[in-house]
Amino acid sequence: MMALKEKIEALKRERNAVILAHYYTEGDVQDVADFVGDSLALSQKAATTDAEVILFAGVHFMGETAKILSPRKTVLMPDMEAGCSLADSCRAEDFAAFIAAHPGRTVISYVNTTAEVKALTDIVCTSSNAVQIVQSLPENEPVIFGPDRNLGNYIKNITGRQNMLIWDGACHVHEEFSLEKILELKKEYPAAKVLTHPECKRPIVLVSDYVGSTAGLLKFAVEDTSTDTYIVVTEPGVLHQMKKAAPGKTFIPAPPMDSTCGCNNCSFMKLVTLRKMADALERMQPEIVIPETTRAAAEKSIRRMLEISK
Ligand code: 13P
Ligand code: SF4
Repeated sequence: MMALKEKIEALKRERNAVILAHYYTEGDVQDVADFVGDSLALSQKAATTDAEVILFAGVHFMGETAKILSPRKTVLMPDMEAGCSLADSCRAEDFAAFIAAHPGRTVISYVNTTAEVKALTDIVCTSSNAVQIVQSLPENEPVIFGPDRNLGNYIKNITGRQNMLIWDGACHVHEEFSLEKILELKKEYPAAKVLTHPECKRPIVLVSDYVGSTAGLLKFAVEDTSTDTYIVVTEPGVLHQMKKAAPGKTFIPAPPMDSTCGCNNCSFMKLVTLRKMADALERMQPEIVIPETTRAAAEKSIRRMLEISK
C-alpha cells in the first residue's frame, strides 16, 4: 500500500498533476488527494488549478466538469466506468425533448449530468448552491429543474416556488435510505442529530436536523456543539473526513432499506482505487475528451453557476 502511495506521489510530481477527490471515494483514495471536496468546491478547484494534469478521483460527470472548465488540461479518470445513476436517469435527447415541450423556461441542471445535458442548460447548480441559484432568478421566471426530483422538491419547498417543473430522476443510493431504519436509530440514540443529503426522499428530509451537500454535512458535524452523535444519511465515504476532523464524536451511517445489500454505498465511487490512480498517471489514460461545441455550450452554464456562487 505504501509503495502505491509513493508511486502516485512520484508520478504526480513527474506529470505536474493535481489529484482531486470526492468525499464518497474510499478513505485511502481521499488521503492521497491534494484536495477533497463536494461537487461545487471540486469544480471551483478544477477551474483554478495551475497543474497541467487533473486526476479526478470521482465519477465521470465530475471529470467532465473539470475538462469543461479547463479544456487545455489533461483530465484523467482512474476508471471510466465510474458513472452515476442520477446522470444516467437524464439522457440528453430526452431532456432536449422535455425542454422543447415546455418552452420559455430557464433550465437549471444539477451538476450530476452529462456534458451534453449541461450544454442544454442555462445554469448548473450543485447541492450546496441549488437554493441560491434558483433564488437568483426573478420569482415569476418559470424554471425547468433536472434531473433529481428529490433535490428539486427540496428546493421547491424551501423557496415556495410553484413555477418549477421537475425532471423525474433520482440517485439509486439516496433513494435506498429507509425512514423506518432512521427512526429506529433515533430511538436507540435519542441525542443523535440526523444529517441528510437533499437527494434523499422528503420523509427523511422532514425528520432531519440538517440538510446539505457533503461539505455542508461535514461542516455541520464538526462545528455543532449541541451533541456528539450523528446519524449520517448519505454515502458513508463522507464519514472518513468526519472522523478525522472530529475524532471525539460518533458518526452512524444510515442503513439502506435492505441492510444486507450494501446499497448505501455508491458502487461507482468505489471503483476508484489507488492502483487505478497510479495506472492512470503512468499511462496518462483514460482521458476525458469532449467535442468542442458541447464543451463550450456546457461551460457557459457552469460559469453562470460559478459567477452566482462566488
Ligand atoms: P455533493 O455535491 O453534495 O458532494 O454531492 C455529490 C453527489 O454525487 C451526491 O450524491
Ligand atoms: Fe451519482 Fe448517487 Fe453516486 Fe452521487 S451517490 S455519484 S448521485 S450514483
